[in-house]
Amino acid sequence: MFNRETYQQRRAALVRQTGKGLLVLPGNGDSPSNYTDNILPFRQDSSFLYFFGLDLPDLVGVIDLESGEATLYGDDPGLDAIVWTGPLPTLAAQADGVGVTHSAPLSQLPDRLRTARQTGRTLHLLPQYRPQNRIRLADWLGINLREVDVLTSPDVTRAVIQLRAVKSLEEIAEIENALAITKQMHLTAMRMAQPGVTEQSIAGAIEGLAWAHGRRQSYAPILSKRGEVLHNHHHDNTLVAGDLLLNDSGAESPLHYASDITRTIPVGGRFNDRQRAIYQTVLDSQLAAIAALKPGVPYLDIYELSARVLIEGLKPLGLFKGDTDEIIHSGAFALIFPHGLGHMLGLDVHDMEALNEDWVGYGEGYQRSHDFGRKSLRLARPVQAGWVVTVEPGIYFIPTLIDRWQAEDKFTHLINYARFADFRDFGGVRIEDDILITSDGARVLGDPIAKSIAEVEACVGH
Ligand code: GLY
Ligand code: MN
Ligand code: MN
Repeated sequence: MFNRETYQQRRAALVRQTGKGLLVLPGNGDSPSNYTDNILPFRQDSSFLYFFGLDLPDLVGVIDLESGEATLYGDDPGLDAIVWTGPLPTLAAQADGVGVTHSAPLSQLPDRLRTARQTGRTLHLLPQYRPQNRIRLADWLGINLREVDVLTSPDVTRAVIQLRAVKSLEEIAEIENALAITKQMHLTAMRMAQPGVTEQSIAGAIEGLAWAHGRRQSYAPILSKRGEVLHNHHHDNTLVAGDLLLNDSGAESPLHYASDITRTIPVGGRFNDRQRAIYQTVLDSQLAAIAALKPGVPYLDIYELSARVLIEGLKPLGLFKGDTDEIIHSGAFALIFPHGLGHMLGLDVHDMEALNEDWVGYGEGYQRSHDFGRKSLRLARPVQAGWVVTVEPGIYFIPTLIDRWQAEDKFTHLINYARFADFRDFGGVRIEDDILITSDGARVLGDPIAKSIAEVEACVGH
């Protein structure tokens, strides 16, 4: 945990920004896998971690938004729990560690909540993404499941988003700590990327590396030579000379801050000419986007800039033609770049998206598009100093998408489909880094991880 003052300051900042009532913040419980006692690895709720720091199941935090008083509800470990799981800290000791002076058994929570409602106090909830917590809240409050969502408080949720968005120095140190392991994971994948090696063995090696450092991966890795399948969690191919291996993987820090890195690797250590051209275009796009990031610049503009660099790089290859502005604004570019440019990063890899993706990334004059490609942009509003965001452009050749658009004669004055036929088997390239917005620009977090063509080729075993 951070020092108790960190959690006290975070709660005090929330109280300053909000008005009346009580915020009820359930931590997560254990989740069964295939039967009750076979549980999935425990992951605490990120907002609970942010305000209460405690990494154990079945705790609930309540913050009185008027008095500022916080209470931790939970149960002291009984003898049975100690026999089966070993010694555990008392509830009071846990509360004290995060600067909370009031603690009480969970059985007292329903009375507190019902009394608060009866005396006209507003109960605030953040959006609930786990059915288990929704059911527990309904039970404690004596309401039905649908009514739980009615208690979601837009104002308090937006205040939480504003606080969690700006990272302190100790949070940035956590993300960089996660990146240190992540660098080893990526270098390991590069070293192993040889003909005859299975994707699964590389996926296993990088997961093992995280585990060996006591870490979990921050999301299920996307590690495949079929990089054009955007969320490809299958690792069932064997690498062949000439393949490109896309590796999108990251680790959590000890306090559960995420990293999120993508590198694309030439199997055997040499990009061929076609791969070299596409890779360099993606790299140019990523570097241009990072260079343009500074406080006040809408992330939407950075997205369009990155798409522009991609299209300018593809024109000499004969894939696109005509006016670049039109290619961007018509949506034709989404044929090769169908996802957004990035997202915030923090306690969640897509930070705070459980709190409402559009409240995190849009608002204040930014309306999410419904267009193919553009609708996948998760972040559009102006970036602020202290935010950590990813920048992850890519170029993909998705045969089903190309065929569909061609059959529909989409954008035939902008897209040279005959040339796309030469790239059907290409796969995809993505390059992703984690970026801190500084007072006057942006900084790539962590030790640099091989990224230029020469650097990546040098890291692949020969
Ligand atoms: N790892 C998923 C993403 O890059 O957003
Ligand atoms: Mn990623
Ligand atoms: Mn990402």
